[in-house]
Amino acid sequence: MAKTPKTPVKPETKLVNAGRDPKGQHGFVNPPVYHASTVLYPTAEDQVAHRSSYQYGRRGTPTSDALETALTELEGDGCAGVALLPSGLAAISTALIAVAGSGDHVLVTDSVYRPTRNFCDGGFKRMGVETTYYDPLIGADIAKLMKPNTRAVFVEAPGSQSFDMQDIPAIAKVAHDRGALVMMDNTWATPLYFRPFDKGADLSIQAGTKYIGGHSDVMFGCVSANAKTLPALKNTVYTMGLCVGPDDMYLALRGLRTMGVRLARHNESGLKVARWLEQRPEVARVLHPALASNPGYKIWQRDFTGSSGLFSIVLKPTSEKSVHAFMNELALFGMGYSWGGFESLVISFDCTEYRSATKWAPGGPTLRFHIGLEDPGDLIADLERGFAALAATK
Ligand SMILES: Cc1ncc(COP(=O)(O)O)c(C=O)c1O
Repeated sequence: MAKTPKTPVKPETKLVNAGRDPKGQHGFVNPPVYHASTVLYPTAEDQVAHRSSYQYGRRGTPTSDALETALTELEGDGCAGVALLPSGLAAISTALIAVAGSGDHVLVTDSVYRPTRNFCDGGFKRMGVETTYYDPLIGADIAKLMKPNTRAVFVEAPGSQSFDMQDIPAIAKVAHDRGALVMMDNTWATPLYFRPFDKGADLSIQAGTKYIGGHSDVMFGCVSANAKTLPALKNTVYTMGLCVGPDDMYLALRGLRTMGVRLARHNESGLKVARWLEQRPEVARVLHPALASNPGYKIWQRDFTGSSGLFSIVLKPTSEKSVHAFMNELALFGMGYSWGGFESLVISFDCTEYRSATKWAPGGPTLRFHIGLEDPGDLIADLERGFAALAATK
C-alpha cells in the first residue's frame, strides 16, 4: 500500500489494501498482470552482477509480489512470508517436502483431505518418509505417537468431510516441546476465522482455489510460513521450479479483495441452513463445528471467530436410491467437488473408504453441503423439495 494507516487495521481492511501500490502504477487501483519470463539488464555490468529487482519470471514478478504481500499481511504477526503454488494440493505436498525427507517421520490427522493422504502414502513414502495417521481428537496425547525422528504434525480443522475439530494449541505445545513443526491446512476457516500462527502453527496452507479465488474459476494454493520455516519453504519452491501463472495470481488477488464479505455471508447462510437441517426429521446429525450440538463446538468457540459455508449431514438410515432422489431433485445445489465458490454444492461421501487410525461409522448416509451466496430461504425451499423426493422414493 502506498500510504500506511496511522492506526492498526482489521483483517477485513487489510484484505482491501494489502499489496496495492497505486502510486507505482500510474494511479490505477490494481496491479498490472506481468506475463513474464526474461528480465533484461540495461548493461553488461548489471547482467554480470545480477543487478535488478527481478531476475526471472519464475522467481517472482510485481504480480506475485503483490499477492504474496497481501497474503502475508493478512496472516499477521508470526508470518514471515508466503509461497505461491499452482493448486492447494501442490501447496500441501510442497510444504511437506520442505519439512521432511528420507528417514523422517510425520504425523497426519486421520481426517485429512484425502489427496494429502494419497501424497503421504505415495510420493512421500517413496522419498523415505514414514507417515502415521492419528485420531483427530487426540489433543495432547499426540505425545504418545511422537518418535525421535518426527519432523512435523499435520493438522486440519475441521476435517473437510467429517468436520472433526482438533485442539491445535495442545498439539502444537507437544510438537514444539519435542522439536517437531506444526503444519495446518487452514482452507476451511482462512486466516479471517482462524489465526494459525497465534495458535502454534509453523506453516499454514490454503487451497486458494476455494475462498480466496471464490468464483470456481481458478486453481491456486499458498503456504504461509514463520521465520523458522520460510527459508526451507522458499528453497523447495525455487529448486522445484514451482510458480503460478500470472492470470491465476491476478484472479487470486482479485478474489482476496472481497473474501471478507463473501465469508461473512457464507458463515451466516451456512449456519441458517445448518440449523434448519438440524430440525429435519430425516437428519440424524449436522456436522458443523459452530453448532452448539456439535462435539467440536467448545474448541471452535475457543479458537475460531467464524465458520465458512462447508458442513456435512448424517441422514437417518435410508436407501441409496432415496438419497439420490434427494440430490437429483435439488435445483440450486450443483453436484461437484471443490467448494468455496459463490455457488451452493452437494456431494455424497464416505470416509470409511480411507480412514485408518479411527473408525468412521456415522450410522447413515452422509452428504456434504457448500452453502453459497444465494438467498438462504431459496436454498431451504430447494432442500425441502429434496426431502419430499426422498420421502417419495423410500
Ligand atoms: C481441505 C482442502 N485442502 C486442500 C484442497 C486441495 O485444493 P486444490 O483443489 O486447489 O488442489 C482441497 C480441495 O478440495 C480441500 O478441500
